[in-house]
Amino acid sequence: MIYTKIKGTGSYVPKKVMTNEDLKQFVDTSDEWIVSRTGIKERHIVTDEFTVDLAEKASLKAIEDAGIDKSEIDIVIVATVTPDNAFPGIGNLLQGRLGLERVMTFDINAACSGFLYALEIADKMIKSGAYNNALIVGAETLTRLTDWRDRNTCVLFGDAAGAMIISKSDTNSIKDVICGSVSDSDGHLICNNVDIKDPAVNAVSVQDHIHMNGREVFKFATRIMPKTIRDLLERNNMVLDDLDYIVAHQANERIINKAARDLGYSMDKMFLNISKYGNTSSASVPLAIDEAIKTKKINKGDLFATVAFGGGFTWGGAIIEL
Ligand code: UT7
Repeated sequence: MIYTKIKGTGSYVPKKVMTNEDLKQFVDTSDEWIVSRTGIKERHIVTDEFTVDLAEKASLKAIEDAGIDKSEIDIVIVATVTPDNAFPGIGNLLQGRLGLERVMTFDINAACSGFLYALEIADKMIKSGAYNNALIVGAETLTRLTDWRDRNTCVLFGDAAGAMIISKSDTNSIKDVICGSVSDSDGHLICNNVDIKDPAVNAVSVQDHIHMNGREVFKFATRIMPKTIRDLLERNNMVLDDLDYIVAHQANERIINKAARDLGYSMDKMFLNISKYGNTSSASVPLAIDEAIKTKKINKGDLFATVAFGGGFTWGGAIIEL
């Protein structure tokens, strides 16, 4: 039987910090509103860096943490909704930056659940016996898609990357991963692609911004997160008390709070770092897991669950023993 484990983690955020006070130069908002409705105090934003730069810096830390040689990596999967190009993908660019040879690389788009999708794919590819070590990354420069005149959305997002080395193991560490998707046919959370206009009319194509019906997304999130945790526990014959910690997608502290209340789980064991970074989409989960491990909230031998939801709508969750 082939098992898998997390061998190393790493993360990176750009240097520039934008506080809630700073946001007042763009939109009619207040620190009080943002903190009380979301828990966010500040976020990091890119100035001259691209998604691949963030991905590279997080990956180097994860590789160092794993203590493996780069040449041992045979899969690179990057979850992102903010790739720097239509193609080549960030995975391919990252391979070049890291100087990797003979690896399969690809990107996936499952919005904020993307990292869980990458984990599911890497976990199953390694368990198939065909691969040994996967570098999986969630990297986003979401502030490039942000409409800085829309107070409903611009206060929420930040830029970051988180990375993990997933490796073949003798012990059953990554116990289960589940992912799902349902069509958001009403477009409650959407960012359209560049408009293709008839060049004969000389129209200029523009990149769309994020559009969101916050209340509908909130309802979806608070329903799917507890459900995913319950499904994982049931599938693995576990109970909530077996979990030492839950690391949820950092989209809104109120969403995490409500999920904990619905589950009957203590907020003391729900990881929170949203106040410093905002919602960093597919980077949110690996950034949070890296911080939870580095700050010793999750320790060797602990059993934790992670869970995310995102545009699509998509969701994913996992139960992992560190
Ligand atoms: O990764 C997935 C991404 N998205 C999410 O997870 C978002 C999920 N949804 C949410 O987190 C919440 O719905 C929000 C934080 C986006 C909004 O919180 P809310 O409690 O649902 O507020 P609301 O949209 O119902 O708006 C309440 C009021 C409105 O004013 P009126 O109509 O009551 O006068 C908004 O115009 O708050 C106003 N408002 C703001 N006021 C100050 C909305 N944004 C702001 C703002 N500053 N930034």
